[in-house]
Amino acid sequence: MAHGGPRAKRVAGGRRAAYDARMIEGPVLGIETSCDETAVAVLAPDGRVLAERVLSQSGHAEHGGVVPEIAARAHLAHLPRMVDAVLAAAGIGLAELGAVAATVGPGLIGGLLVGANYGKGLALALGRRFVAVNHLEAHALTPRLPGLVPGGAPFPYLLLLLSGGHTQAVAVEGLGRYRRLGTTLDDAAGEAFDKAAKLIGLGWPGGPALERLAARGDAARFALPRPMLGRAGCDFSFSGLKTAVAHEAAKLGAGALAEQDAADLAAGFQAAVAAVLADRARHAAALLRSAHPGLSLMVVSGGVAANQALRAALLAAAEAEGMALAAPPPRLCGDNAVMVAWAAIERLRAGTALGPEVLPRPRWPLDDALLRVA
Ligand code: KG4
Ligand code: ZN
Repeated sequence: MAHGGPRAKRVAGGRRAAYDARMIEGPVLGIETSCDETAVAVLAPDGRVLAERVLSQSGHAEHGGVVPEIAARAHLAHLPRMVDAVLAAAGIGLAELGAVAATVGPGLIGGLLVGANYGKGLALALGRRFVAVNHLEAHALTPRLPGLVPGGAPFPYLLLLLSGGHTQAVAVEGLGRYRRLGTTLDDAAGEAFDKAAKLIGLGWPGGPALERLAARGDAARFALPRPMLGRAGCDFSFSGLKTAVAHEAAKLGAGALAEQDAADLAAGFQAAVAAVLADRARHAAALLRSAHPGLSLMVVSGGVAANQALRAALLAAAEAEGMALAAPPPRLCGDNAVMVAWAAIERLRAGTALGPEVLPRPRWPLDDALLRVA
């Protein structure tokens, strides 16, 4: 990547001129370490993915969930060589990078500290800009990656963010202009999948395994509740559904479930989640349409959005509302670093990128003042 005038001028002047935030001088490195995925990506300034890697840490399954200390240590162990591998795959050297971006929240603080400090150190050593990225904003902006959605996902759109830690219906009205329309009153959607999977006898994380098992099950066998269905607004609730799964599993007797019983219960659970999500999505669309009559795009993201049955239900809901549904490919729905670099590019282009002064933080809602852009 050739460096043009601005850097040459800086060098010639002997001092660093004020950084023009709108200028992205080279590929952007993205780092994601907020949970149990160590991810690195490098994107060209126009958003093309030059290379990326996601390492799903393996040390948590035996504990039945993410252990923060194990996660942080694993990020520290893997991140440096992943950065090297991604740059090598992209065919670029460190010195060619235009900026370094890392997730600084929300998430597990140990992992955030590892990723953010690594990113800051690298940016400092290279004399490049460090961009602090909000993980939820990165999920929210993913559909705007070039080539992902026909037409490019212009604002506004309705975002359904369904992950292990978050379940939200968000009005994405512009960069830094997010309104939470609804959220979960108890468990997150992915958490519900993980808990139901455990009750059915599957390992952790349970979502993908539950989906595979459900494909062989009869969704109509167990009469499971559909929490919040038809209720005003678009909040979610999943804990009652999880309790119902626990009751049905207990009724089937002690010990491991028979294969078909497990499959039927999995299918019943997944169908109930699908029905609830479709209903909540339609309510959210109606709410947002009152502010934006031309609303035409619904986007589903987060790890749970990899589920094909849920995608199908949401597609039907979107179509019933006269909207298109965009679902990023599964590798961009789960945690990844492409979205981190892309969120940084969006903010650099707009001149609203956050810098190293934004310290890692476990909580950082999308409607926080730090993110707001008038
Ligand atoms: O977004 P994500 O990768 O990580 C965060 O939580 O931020 O989401 C992980 C969650 C886990 O709860 C996992 O069980 C769930 O997404 N998940 C799924 C599927 N794939 C992943 N849930 C249902 N069906 C799937 N195919
Ligand atoms: Zn996530």
